Amino acid sequence: MLIRLPLYVGTAGPPSIADDRSQASAAGDELSPEEVVVAYHERTKHHYHRYAASPGNMDWATQPDPFRRYAGASLVRLPLPEAGQALPYWQLYIADGLEPAPLSIESISLFFRYALSLTAWKRVHETTWSLRSNPSSGNLHPTEGYALLPALGAIHDRPSVYHYAPKEHGLERRADLDPSVWADLTAAVPEGSFLVGLSSIHWREAWKYGERAFRYCQHDVGHALGTLRFAAAALGWQLCLLDRVRADAVSQLLGIDRDADYAGAEREHPDLVALVVREKWSSDRGLCLTQALVSRVAASRWYGTANALSLEHGVAWPVIDRVAVATTTKFPGMAADDELAGLPSKEELFEAPVRSGSFTAEKVILERRSAVSMDASTALPAATFFQMLARLMPTRDGRSVPWDAIPWRPRIHLGIFVHRVNDLCPGLYVLARDPEKVEPLRLAMRPEFLWQRPPSCPPGLPLYLLKEGDCRALAARVSCGQDIAGDGAFSLGMIADYMESLVAYGAGVYRNLFWEAGLIGQVLYLEAEEAGIRSTGIGCYFDDPVHEVFGISSRDWQSFYHFTVGGPVEDTRLTTLPAYEVAPTS
Ligand SMILES: Cc1cc2nc3c(=O)[nH]c(=O)nc-3n(C[C@H](O)[C@H](O)[C@H](O)COP(=O)(O)O)c2cc1C
Repeated sequence: MLIRLPLYVGTAGPPSIADDRSQASAAGDELSPEEVVVAYHERTKHHYHRYAASPGNMDWATQPDPFRRYAGASLVRLPLPEAGQALPYWQLYIADGLEPAPLSIESISLFFRYALSLTAWKRVHETTWSLRSNPSSGNLHPTEGYALLPALGAIHDRPSVYHYAPKEHGLERRADLDPSVWADLTAAVPEGSFLVGLSSIHWREAWKYGERAFRYCQHDVGHALGTLRFAAAALGWQLCLLDRVRADAVSQLLGIDRDADYAGAEREHPDLVALVVREKWSSDRGLCLTQALVSRVAASRWYGTANALSLEHGVAWPVIDRVAVATTTKFPGMAADDELAGLPSKEELFEAPVRSGSFTAEKVILERRSAVSMDASTALPAATFFQMLARLMPTRDGRSVPWDAIPWRPRIHLGIFVHRVNDLCPGLYVLARDPEKVEPLRLAMRPEFLWQRPPSCPPGLPLYLLKEGDCRALAARVSCGQDIAGDGAFSLGMIADYMESLVAYGAGVYRNLFWEAGLIGQVLYLEAEEAGIRSTGIGCYFDDPVHEVFGISSRDWQSFYHFTVGGPVEDTRLTTLPAYEVAPTS
């Protein structure tokens, strides 16, 4: 069965190498990990005259299977949660507002349903493809999900490592852990805690996008981290990234280092593990995962061999392997920024606490969709616009959901193209997600920018008007000519504090920046649903022309991701089918 793919990327040029610097990176060896990252980022920029290297066309014969399975691993089907859970959407953001659900097969099922499950099948003529609660560049879904769970009633009588199978909404049991290993693994955390993990199969994205694929895989991880955090919030659980667990330990914990289990199958890149805790817990992200303990997990009895996703692989993209290694050889060690001083309080961000809304969490999460086209007319009330942006701000009075999932201060800021927001003049704006970065951004951008506070903007929202004017055509042009960027109510470029992050934390931080960008995107997706409109992630944009718009001339700040939000136009040719055949259990 062929999976139909969105066609938003223009025809890519033939694989060509950007410049001498990138040529050097192709040799690779003599560069430091940070230099490998910079060279990768430069050579995978899209330019007006040349796209980053990609196959240029889609070879349908080698299209990767979107579903990984492990033959020989037993599958535990999770009971589909009853549809119509009443939890209101706004409640997801109140971290300690819910009685935590007990750990059971039902709660684990709801967790994966909201985080990584299928949400619909789409059909046009003879072609069918599935959508998921987590979005993905090109709907290629490179991200695989794992869990390390305690012995749990109807799931299994021993602690185990599982791979999540979205098509079946089930858990494939990859390994049985000795109860003593589990006890040691969770000694420092409250009972009922468990681990989730994410990995990426780069080939799935590289098949279509070539060298830029590593970026998209990392965006997708950020989105999935967001869906995991919101799923946990729906159950009253906490979730935080364990950012000090080294990549080789992530591989061992998830079993993706096991060569024999991947003979002839595409390998998975270790992205992250996160801790899910049922009760309020002052997190110690350095959770004691000693090498000895990780080795004991690795020495468990493992089951199953991975399926091959493509019969053969076309062009190889060695720069992806190189940047993957460079960003995982050592963890970035971003100090947990417990120091939240200078960030706004909730009161400074929201006029009044948000305690009402339009939809349930379930509706927003399971019906989230990317707009494929925008209506070029829907305008947003300014209050809605401000509230969406306020949701993107971590607060000083305890980190808000989903920002409590990551330990570092915001390193991604927004350059916004406002097209249709009532009572706000169209033009270029900037949101400094860390107020301390207002001044550095001001210095980096065009000196003639206004830096004016918009009328009635909440005091805690560091939002500034830079320049008035109609920037619809400009926004579309820099987003690879995609009309959705100009036809929405607003679109934006996510500007990363790039070079300083690399210098301070090393090459590994490159992935963290994409994860933060993906998290921002996930909040925008959900906020747009709640507002009755839609949004779309935009991975295809012309990097340096975006910098030029804001007057950014050094490599200190780089655009990492684009997004558009507005009134969608539905594609009426498509038929929507339910995600799963099985009737909901009661
Ligand atoms: C990282 C990322 C980049 C994306 N880039 C684009 C893009 O450039 N243009 C576009 O129309 N959609 C883009 N999308 C939207 C995807 O095509 C969409 O998520 C996918 O088809 C699945 O559909 P869904 O979001 O409705 O589940 C992007 C999504 C992600 C997560």
